[in-house]
Amino acid sequence: AFHKYPKDLHLASDGVFGTFDKAQLQRGYQVYKEVCAACHSMKFVAIRDLADLGYNEAQLKAEAASWQVPGIDPSTGEATMRPGLPTDYFPSPYPNTVAAAAANNNAIPPDLSLMAKARHDGSAYVYSLLTGYQAQPAELLKEFPASKTPTGLHYNPYFPNLNLAMAPPLTANGQVTYAPGNPDPTIDQMAQDVAAFLTWTAEPTLDKRKQTGWPVLGFLLFATILAFFAKKQIWSAVK
Ligand code: HEM
Repeated sequence: AFHKYPKDLHLASDGVFGTFDKAQLQRGYQVYKEVCAACHSMKFVAIRDLADLGYNEAQLKAEAASWQVPGIDPSTGEATMRPGLPTDYFPSPYPNTVAAAAANNNAIPPDLSLMAKARHDGSAYVYSLLTGYQAQPAELLKEFPASKTPTGLHYNPYFPNLNLAMAPPLTANGQVTYAPGNPDPTIDQMAQDVAAFLTWTAEPTLDKRKQTGWPVLGFLLFATILAFFAKKQIWSAVK
């Protein structure tokens, strides 16, 4: 009874005619980069995939170079970090899961590439989780005193087991500065934008899938009509 289903989230990519809002995806990418990437990897997305969001080649190169990725020093053969290239995948903020757990109260921040598909109602879930932190309800504590949120965890009714290791990542309006012409970066707006961005990372070909559907339906309709008349003609001699 204390766990809540995700809030309504309306994205441009919703519905059979919906397509991604690229400006929103760019804002969401900015939130991922400046906030979430401190803890979460996105290992199935390559930096060059951002071309879908409307970045040109020069912008992609500059964007890639702003990330540090694991590499090898050609002179010594030692592992080292180097600026990213568009062909690199987004790097993990931690060298391994032990380091990830050590930095996060023993919880491992999951990879976000497919989060919007991995969780039921994923896009809305991400949005709700980010905006859903609150104090633990008094009735909950009264009913189940043992359920008091342990120190180091955070109460969130949208998280299935109610207490999660992630501290609220979006805590102030204007935490990220958007380019002119974009909506104000309120917590709610940033949460919607990063949810939209993770919807894209989880299904970058959504626009194509939807656009392909209509010609396919048109073809099927045509083929059905053809089959109907063909049948009539073939059997026309039979009384
Ligand atoms: C878990 C999103 C920032 C640490 C999660 C989950 C999501 C998420 C969707 C999964 C919840 C689930 O398993 O159902 C985000 C987004 C962020 C962000 C969109 C940026 C806006 C951060 C930051 C940190 C962090 C900055 C570290 C300081 C964690 C940890 C977990 C987690 C430790 C695991 C929680 C647990 O299993 O109890 N995050 N996160 N996250 N995140 Fe984040």
